[in-house]
Amino acid sequence: FNLDQFIGGIPKAELHLHIEGSLEPELMFELARRNKVAIPFASVEDVRAAYRFSNLQDFLDIYYAGAQVLQTEQDFHDLAAAYFARARSDGVRHAEIFFDPQTHTDRGIPFDVVIEGLLSGMAAVEGVSSKLILSFLRHLDEEAAFATWGQAEKWLDRIAGVGLDSSELGHPPSKFARVFAAAGEAGLKRVAHAGEEGPPAYVYEALDLLHVDRIDHGNRALEDPALVERLAQSGMTLTVCPLSNLKLCVVGDLADHPIDRMLDLGLNATVNSDDPAYFGGYVAENYRAVAIARNLGKAQIVQLARNSFTGSFLSEAEIAAHL
Ligand code: ADE
Ligand code: ZN
Repeated sequence: FNLDQFIGGIPKAELHLHIEGSLEPELMFELARRNKVAIPFASVEDVRAAYRFSNLQDFLDIYYAGAQVLQTEQDFHDLAAAYFARARSDGVRHAEIFFDPQTHTDRGIPFDVVIEGLLSGMAAVEGVSSKLILSFLRHLDEEAAFATWGQAEKWLDRIAGVGLDSSELGHPPSKFARVFAAAGEAGLKRVAHAGEEGPPAYVYEALDLLHVDRIDHGNRALEDPALVERLAQSGMTLTVCPLSNLKLCVVGDLADHPIDRMLDLGLNATVNSDDPAYFGGYVAENYRAVAIARNLGKAQIVQLARNSFTGSFLSEAEIAAHL
């Protein structure tokens, strides 16, 4: 059968996508010119050549530098509209996207500029529904997270949930238990990156202290059989990102990627692109690359796509309409 056609044609949801990570080098150059911001690259090829990472922090340093070109509401609109157009061409029907407000507010860009631009860009593309997840930067402190939470308060009807991203090691979920509790009290969903580079203990903390509805990545949970059992029994969704795992050396080779082992263990794994402009592929390419590397069959691909809807924050009726 034709794998590319099959993957492209099957309805999918994307649940792990950092909108700042969808900034393609071409748009980076255009925005740098438009905003008269200097970037340390001579050409688009030069930018792509710099995208060789040996770990998460290597990537984050370049990702935060790239985000500096984003300045105006129009920039955030263009960024989101470009992602949604691209996602639609991959057969994505619904996307729940992260944004990192602190990356922008710390440079003096108002929270409202960021979110208004993103919301209008999300609405500009028909055929893909969307939700927004406000992600706190875990290398910053709790006080900074609460300041961001305060700026978000008037937008809570447009924000589906909160997340936790950036440098994982040394920044356990426990640091953010109180701000996640506030988000839970406000009725928001909660997710957190855990077990990408961090140990299984961080996944336990995300469950027990942050009360998350999904685990982003979760790879290192596989080191702990009791944790695997708990994740499987509770039907927890893992938002797995194969090409990200490869580029950030979470796996040494895609042939060793645990996506099918996760399914075999009864985990609700999904396939996502994380930061596609930096990792070399949008969601269909992530399905394709891992399907080839792990020799996945149709039934496994169908299961992964199904899990993306059942793990989404859509209503039961909306999910049913997609399946
Ligand atoms: N920010 C953007 N992508 C990320 C990732 N994969 N892990 C942690 N923080 C991130
Ligand atoms: Zn991520």
